[in-house]
Amino acid sequence: MPVRTATKGDLRAIHALERAAFGSHCYPDFFFRQALDLWPAYLLVAEDDDDVLAGYGLGGAGTAPGEGWILSLAVAESCRGQGLGKALLQALLAALDEGGCRRQRLTVAPDNPALGLYLSLGFVEEGGEPDYFGPGEPRLVLVRG
Ligand SMILES: CC(C)(COP(=O)(O)OP(=O)(O)OC[C@H]1O[C@@H](n2cnc3c(N)ncnc32)[C@H](O)[C@@H]1OP(=O)(O)O)[C@@H](O)C(=O)NCCC(=O)NCCS
Repeated sequence: MPVRTATKGDLRAIHALERAAFGSHCYPDFFFRQALDLWPAYLLVAEDDDDVLAGYGLGGAGTAPGEGWILSLAVAESCRGQGLGKALLQALLAALDEGGCRRQRLTVAPDNPALGLYLSLGFVEEGGEPDYFGPGEPRLVLVRG
């Protein structure tokens, strides 16, 4: 599935996918509108043959020079296990590289199987916080580059 940058017309579907993937822990809809203004090159989508959103990834520029973050990655349940998550992440990392964000970070729950995907693409554990997103919400911080 080809990966492309998102447009305003994708935002509703992106938020629906975000909600399906992360439930009550999802980003609010208006966040994606602002993310599109801030980081238009780092909001990527892929659609299936029927033009239905199959996955999306979001990155952002950090405050330190050359620092970028992977802020979200989600693939529709029916499209998982086919390499799309990896393709989206690779495209996002390439876009961040091209935008000068060559040191990339992300957070992941220690028990999320996505950890294996991140390690396979060169991320290494940098640290972690037991209550990163609040009590009982631990996250590992990974870095690449
Ligand atoms: C994480 C996610 C984006 C992966 O998408 P995907 O399209 O299924 O991933 P891929 O098919 O590209 O798999 C990439 C690699 O990760 C591994 N992987 C992905 N999900 C896995 C799972 N649930 N269990 C075990 N391994 C998994 C695959 O084995 C594959 O490894 P390989 O390249 O050696 O074959 C998807 O499972 C998802 O949307 N999860 C819910 C949201 C989420 O947790 N996002 C990450 C937040 S940090």
